[in-house]
Amino acid sequence: MSAMDDAARAVRDHAYAPYSKFKVGACVKMDGALYVAANVENASYPLSVCAERNAIAAAVAAGGRHLEEVVVCTDSSPPSSPCGGCRQVLREFCPDPTKVTVTSINLKGERRSWTVAELLPDGFTGAELP
Ligand code: THU
Repeated sequence: MSAMDDAARAVRDHAYAPYSKFKVGACVKMDGALYVAANVENASYPLSVCAERNAIAAAVAAGGRHLEEVVVCTDSSPPSSPCGGCRQVLREFCPDPTKVTVTSINLKGERRSWTVAELLPDGFTGAELP
């Protein structure tokens, strides 16, 4: 277990998921520093926010800009893969998406890994924006 694994697993305990009961913890490394967050749901369901996006928000608020690695912890088997919206948000902060690894772990120690490029091939980067 890496420090990022431990951090994602620990923050998962703070998830606010009374509706789905699906608790998620995320740890992102940006510019060498680790940031954690959990999913936060809402009685108005679409306002719920995933752990990955909350972790990116915490990192950016602290001045982070360059994503280096992501670990997500759930209790699903096999370990779940990040939703499409989070893939796009992770891509935003990847200097090179082929070099950023996303690892999904669960409580019994199973793990799966992808690069952001594998999760979101040919993603929208804003390069086409005026
Ligand atoms: N969720 C995450 O936090 N991250 C994921 O990668 C998948 C889904 C959350 C959103 C919602 O609170 C709950 O899990 C069920 O979809």
